[in-house]
Amino acid sequence: MSFSIKNICCIGAGFVGGPTMAVMADKCSDLSFHIVDINEERIAAWNNADLSKLPIFEPGLEEIIARTRNKNLFFTTKVKDCIESADIIFISVNTPTKLKGLGAGKASDLKWVEASAREVARFSKGHTIVVEKSTLPVRTAEVIQSILNNVDSNSMRTDKSFSVLSNPEFLSEGTAIKDLESPDRVLIGGEDENAMGLLGQMYKTWVPEDKILFTNIWSSELAKLTSNAFLAQRVSSINSISAICEVTGADIREVSRAIGKDKRIGSKFLDSGPGFGGSCFKKDILNLVYLAEYYGLSEVANFWEEVVKINKWHQTRIASIVVKKLFGTITQKKIIILGFAFKANTNDTRESAAIKICKDLILEGAELVIHDPKVSPSQIENDLQIKPSAEIYEENESSLNNQIGKWQFSNDLNIFNNAHAVVVLTEWQEYRNIEWDYAAKQMARPAWVFDSRSIVNVDLVKKAGLNLWCLGDGSQKNKKIKI
Ligand code: NAD
Ligand code: UGA
Repeated sequence: MSFSIKNICCIGAGFVGGPTMAVMADKCSDLSFHIVDINEERIAAWNNADLSKLPIFEPGLEEIIARTRNKNLFFTTKVKDCIESADIIFISVNTPTKLKGLGAGKASDLKWVEASAREVARFSKGHTIVVEKSTLPVRTAEVIQSILNNVDSNSMRTDKSFSVLSNPEFLSEGTAIKDLESPDRVLIGGEDENAMGLLGQMYKTWVPEDKILFTNIWSSELAKLTSNAFLAQRVSSINSISAICEVTGADIREVSRAIGKDKRIGSKFLDSGPGFGGSCFKKDILNLVYLAEYYGLSEVANFWEEVVKINKWHQTRIASIVVKKLFGTITQKKIIILGFAFKANTNDTRESAAIKICKDLILEGAELVIHDPKVSPSQIENDLQIKPSAEIYEENESSLNNQIGKWQFSNDLNIFNNAHAVVVLTEWQEYRNIEWDYAAKQMARPAWVFDSRSIVNVDLVKKAGLNLWCLGDGSQKNKKIKI
């Protein structure tokens, strides 16, 4: 191959850019990795000597950062320096759903990708491989190539040339390091075989050759959207069946186990929960919907849009069940929320089901005490757009008349005093080991446990004399313990 790789740059030090480059740096110690971000606070956090203060929480990440940072992995805000010296540039910036203008509500907002491409066009030197790591609409590579070829017309264009590749990321938050270290596959889409081979060679350092797939660039872009759409569709499918379980007397865990044994279906991704969250499922499906609509495939668009619609319905369903079980009113009732992250082992709350469910409960007048081991109270405030209140559970007539409730954060689990209900929304390990007997003694009577993640110890909850509602468990219907 005619061009060797030494310096790698990644634009965007987020949930993908940070862990991805860290693992690459760990595996390819002879290469140098620079991650650049315009967010100074984020870069400062990545450079914090105290590794518990990294901007994102991922099991195993701290150890890798300790091994690589300032050796062959560097976090910086110096865009120009990073791009200038890079042989390969990964674009790993955010691509949220557009909020206004053409395609608003469905299409991806590519302004950060475009800005990155313009910076690359401006500062790069010699030949540069530009890699789409962000999840992008199909045919974005064309847009990037066009920006790279046409921006900065004053500079000596002969000095620079580019190969654009698609190399989407399939990591899941919470298991990102494991996913990056032993991926199911690495996908490289492109036209320039030389560039594809070089990127493939870097991955071969630690990924078995048969797991590195080469495709055309459009297949690679579409495969990423399709992968997320299929995964989200599975979650919506199982959640829709959980509602049927509840009214028929079936149990969703038993149904999942039974269907998962079929090798054609498989057992993974069949856990019913409070509705899928995370920054990508919804936006990537909506992106697919937009693409289908754009090409006049309205039936295809409608099919995929239903996956998002039923997810929203499912989240609303949980809050209304809580209200119904608590005698139709939760005004001034203290309710404990266990977990705010969109899944366990991450501090990410983007699109977390907890946001909608907590908002609905607060609007119904509840007084929430929210616990999460990794999410900060300021993040919760930002998501709820409601300020926390200092005092919770002060019973008086005037507050009884207040329509809207309130919320407070707690970082320990000694919070059950006077609570009318506990709602489990994230499957953090520590919620599996709650001493329900101890908790129940402090709670109001009658009190409820609502488990949307199937993690509480059913026997202990029942022995403690608490009412239990498990998502998708119709078999509980006639077995409630009377208090
Ligand atoms: P993120 O918001 O955590 O990080 C993006 C970062 O890019 C931010 O820190 C932002 O400041 C920075 N940025 C934006 N414009 C910039 C510019 N011009 N120059 C330098 N920095 C810039 O986003 P994320 O979760 O890391 O996702 C990034 C992309 O990866 C998205 O397209 C997403 O769909 C995709 N993806 C995400 C995941 C995931 O689990 N989060 C998994 C696979 C793929
Ligand atoms: C998802 C995909 O799994 C990754 O492959 C992809 O790279 C990533 O999106 C992305 O493009 O951003 P992530 O969102 O981090 O990863 O987490 P998942 O494990 O997929 O969970 C997504 C949501 O579905 C969570 O809210 C989770 O609780 C929920 N879920 C997942 C269930 O309710 N049940 C399940 O069985 C699985």
